[in-house]
Amino acid sequence: MKKRVFSGIRATGRLHLGNYLGAVKGMLQLQNSHQYETIYCVVDVHTITTPYDKERLPQNKREIIVDYLAAGLDPDKSIIIYQSDVPEHTELAFYLSSQMSIARMQHLPTFKDKIKQHPQHSTMALLNYPILMAADILVYKAGLVPVGIDQEPHLEVARELARKMNQTYKTDFPEPVRFATKGEYVPSLKGEGKMSKSVEGSYINLTDPYETIEKKVRQIPTATAAGGKMTPGVETLFKYARLFIPDQLKSYQQAYDQGSLKFVELKDAVAQAIYADLKPFQAKRQQIANRPAYIDDVIRTGKLKAREIASATIKEVKEKMGLA
Ligand code: TRP
Repeated sequence: MKKRVFSGIRATGRLHLGNYLGAVKGMLQLQNSHQYETIYCVVDVHTITTPYDKERLPQNKREIIVDYLAAGLDPDKSIIIYQSDVPEHTELAFYLSSQMSIARMQHLPTFKDKIKQHPQHSTMALLNYPILMAADILVYKAGLVPVGIDQEPHLEVARELARKMNQTYKTDFPEPVRFATKGEYVPSLKGEGKMSKSVEGSYINLTDPYETIEKKVRQIPTATAAGGKMTPGVETLFKYARLFIPDQLKSYQQAYDQGSLKFVELKDAVAQAIYADLKPFQAKRQQIANRPAYIDDVIRTGKLKAREIASATIKEVKEKMGLA
């Protein structure tokens, strides 16, 4: 049997450059290697764990499917699904929750961060976020998960749940590991933290035209004397250079060391390279968006294939837990 791969992206708006480099490129690499069975998901149920707009969710989650297809996910090679189309995810999450303490969930850094952002929304759904994520992966017995490095604490939880289930109920869940890509950490354009949809001014959308990308990259804060210790903004700019123009990195670094670097030149070189990477994506996205029946078909087919695998896992788990 082929090793399975699972990954998911939340439906809180369109994909940005950070998702693209941190997750989607890894997803593509695994899909195209032919050694794996790949399942890629829009995790719409996770979206409801923090405040969201119910009027916009249907459109938002569909946009991610279109982004996936435009980026090169191929329904002939990968199963592409909405999480809420496969109720086995939430069912398994409840079974898994019997193996996890409340305290362990309350102490996760991701939980604490979200509570800080939304102090009025400390809900059970949010506390259960990592358990649902573990269920997403384990319901397919997936062993490999292409996601950004910030998700490592959640994968730790998934491994722990797999181990506990295997010990307690003699199941055979693999302990899933993260598949890392070189762009796994894309810094925020603001020079602090990572690129994130929830921080305005921190991200580049995959559909941004060149002018917007140039404007955003030029806004990376680099107002500083050359030489000496790099400011966070300058460090950020060099991280982008390493990701997008690795061949030119050395000469820009030398210019910086000599105090002769013109930041705007480096910024525009980075912006041009980012745009060159995104241009084919943007063209393909336009074509796919014009084929709604095709998109519907991808979603319908994905659901059928996914439920076949997921329902077999649920059947096994129910039997082993004495529920069936
Ligand atoms: N928590 C992930 C994120 O915010 C999204 C996610 C949910 C996920 N379920 C998953 C990622 C399963 C990988 C596998 O990026």
